[in-house]
Amino acid sequence: MGDTVTVIHGDKRVELPIVCSADGDPAIDISQLRAKTGMITYDPSLANTGICQSGITFVDGERGILRYRGIPIEQFTEKPDFVEVVWLLIFGRLPKRDELAEFSELLTENELLHEGMKQQFQRIPVDAPPMAILSATLTSLAFFHQEFLEVEDKESIVQAAARLISKVRTIAAFACRRSLGLPFMYPDPKFRYCANFLHMMFSIPYRQYVVTPEVEDALNLLFILHADHEQNCSTSTVRIVGSARANLFASCAAGVCALWGPLHGGANVEVIHMLERIHAGGISPEECVRQAKDKTSPLKLYGFGHRLYRNYDPRAKILKVACERVFARMNRKDPLLDTARRLEELALADPYFVDRKLFPNVDFYSGILLRAIGIPTNMFTVCFAIGRLPGWIAQWKEQHTDPSGKILRPRQVYVGPTETNYVPMSQR
Ligand code: SDX
Repeated sequence: MGDTVTVIHGDKRVELPIVCSADGDPAIDISQLRAKTGMITYDPSLANTGICQSGITFVDGERGILRYRGIPIEQFTEKPDFVEVVWLLIFGRLPKRDELAEFSELLTENELLHEGMKQQFQRIPVDAPPMAILSATLTSLAFFHQEFLEVEDKESIVQAAARLISKVRTIAAFACRRSLGLPFMYPDPKFRYCANFLHMMFSIPYRQYVVTPEVEDALNLLFILHADHEQNCSTSTVRIVGSARANLFASCAAGVCALWGPLHGGANVEVIHMLERIHAGGISPEECVRQAKDKTSPLKLYGFGHRLYRNYDPRAKILKVACERVFARMNRKDPLLDTARRLEELALADPYFVDRKLFPNVDFYSGILLRAIGIPTNMFTVCFAIGRLPGWIAQWKEQHTDPSGKILRPRQVYVGPTETNYVPMSQR
């Protein structure tokens, strides 16, 4: 018998097996705990609870490590190719040249939206939140691609994944164009993945947007850094919805809704609002840090802190350098980058943040890079979702193809009224 832990309660002694990991924390297998002790565990934010075994992404929060299928993310920064990372996450290894070319071609084939879907944009209010549009439109892929409501073989999963990954750009761009009162720009098959998104976002009928290498690289890098992050809130949401054998479109649409929250993917928008407020003189950096420490203040230092990282988020490190590089190449400056650097400097010298091991996370600098590319602020979390989609799909596929998979159904500790009787209205 392998390693075990012993749980002793009263006159009961129960041995529970330990599940070893390839890297990172081992786990106590409590799947028989209730049967053997009549008790459950209590871990309300699931911070100590593994909901699955996964081989996709590894995060070491203490050491600030993030690896996709074992490859450190730092190794993708030289010549970032988001579609290559999409393939790696979903299929488990780096693609050969012909495999990557074939997958890129599949994405190109699926970049158009069904005209019926395009028309539904006309009934969406122009000021609709882009994340609401994204979630609703991803769900509506199930109207137009009903052949993928049940995907049981590998080829169907690949086809459904390609539709999602390719069309999410078109949906995002159309949502943005609608909010700006601009005509939709159709995808252009001559462009690579990120260049096509930039084309749909920024070209106008009589003037094609010129994609520069530094901007295309910056967007590939942004999407890569957001591509997966093990069992974060939105990915766990995708797993929970998918565990009911709900289709891939509905599962990813649910992930969009979870990502929307300001404590999660929505933080990249809150960071820019915070930096703009400081830059506009509404509040000083020092006051911003003071309010973030004040428990009576609703203000947080957005872009700081993390459920796992007790060290600098490796993605924030890369994004900070990328901001500086892109601005240098574009011969531009953004005062918000200086403000962000000042905030970081103040926080990392403040015992409140140091003692709690609060460091910049992926959202702290990502918005500044998106601004440099010209993406409107209200589209930042949508860009996070575009990047995260392959991670959601890979995690959904890993769970969906696991023959031992069960519906995810946590228990609770009940603290409500014990048995009581119904009281007729006349006696209340
Ligand atoms: C993402 O999980 C993932 O992997 C997510 C993500 C991904 O790739 O999917 O990495 C993406 O969501 C990054 C996080 C983006 N959110 C923000 O930037 C919002 C600001 N951050 C905080 O709200 C907070 O740090 C969370 C939500 C990220 C984490 O919340 P926790 O787990 O409650 O934080 P914690 O337990 O580490 O907090 C410890 C202490 C607490 O104070 P005390 O009770 O000890 O007095 O630190 C405080 C917290 O109040 N704290 C903050 C803070 N973050 C934590 N205080 C002020 N500002 C902050 N940002």
